[in-house]
Amino acid sequence: MSDAVQTPSQSQFTKRVFSGIQPSGGLTLGNYLGAVKRFVEMQQADYETLYCMVDLHAITVWQDPETLRFRTRELAAFFIASGLDPAKSILFNQSAVPEHAQLGWIFNCVARMGWMQRMTQFKDKAGKNAQNASLGLFGYPALMAADILLYHATHVPVGDDQKQHLELTRDIAIKFNHDFGVDFFPITEPVIGGPAARVMSLRDGSKKMSKSDPSDLSRINMSDDTDTIAQKFRKAKTDPDALPSEADGLEGRPEARNLVGIYAALGDETVDQVLADVGGKQFSEFKPMLVDRAVEKLAPISTEMARLMQDTTELDRVLKDGSQRARAIAAPILKKTYDIVGMLQS
Ligand code: TRP
Repeated sequence: MSDAVQTPSQSQFTKRVFSGIQPSGGLTLGNYLGAVKRFVEMQQADYETLYCMVDLHAITVWQDPETLRFRTRELAAFFIASGLDPAKSILFNQSAVPEHAQLGWIFNCVARMGWMQRMTQFKDKAGKNAQNASLGLFGYPALMAADILLYHATHVPVGDDQKQHLELTRDIAIKFNHDFGVDFFPITEPVIGGPAARVMSLRDGSKKMSKSDPSDLSRINMSDDTDTIAQKFRKAKTDPDALPSEADGLEGRPEARNLVGIYAALGDETVDQVLADVGGKQFSEFKPMLVDRAVEKLAPISTEMARLMQDTTELDRVLKDGSQRARAIAAPILKKTYDIVGMLQS
């Protein structure tokens, strides 16, 4: 079903980018290189960009209310400090735009149980005790489809773990359009890939860098200070060989590939460009270069985040303005959706 051809009328949709991150935990270098850096790049191109703190998604698993509020602001600070400009991008938290939940309900009635049961993220997150998972966690991908389609977004930058959810978003759009005989929702394009789409653990190059890894040495947190960053890279797992001079030489060396990938992405270079430069060097020589580059890039971000978090009135004002701008796009699309479905509106 996901392979449906785009009809010519799909070109009626303006190029609009939507993406979201859950305000549910510590922010890592993986969030920066794998997601937000790309968000910033798309802001420069000729897209309209919306970036959302998806608090409604966060509560599909338990969140302490005060912590959730803090994390939502912290994520907003991270967005802004990383280069998302509230004048160019619409930055807001999901629950401030009630149309997300409203369209989410409609999509709960479009999506099929069988589709949802195939979602691997649900299976992973629910674990062995799926009977005890919230109904919200099961319906999570339908709400995600609503996030995207509420703005008729055409492009969605995400990590490759979200591919299946984007296919479901397409399936929901196709089924809705088909059931109601309309050409109303766009068939969204995932934007996946890039130099550092997957930042891996510093302790195990086959695992994704994650805020939930028990070892703090496995990740660089956006809040880490210079000494901590230096220490973590110094202790990062490597192999005994020198660096190759071409990307092919990283085959079968996941830790080396990860560190070179991080270095390249931080400096907006390709892996081949980096290796042309550092090929033949030992890790003892490369790691200090990596630390310098990481500190140079990350220190200004964490300083700016700390500044924004000191007085949250500016952040709250940005989010309020963002939610109003988001609503101005969302409300007419929801109204039209209700019309199509046959909801009587006064
Ligand atoms: N599920 C996404 C994640 O965990 C977060 C998300 C929610 C999202 N809604 C979205 C991403 C809409 C892109 C578009 O990373």
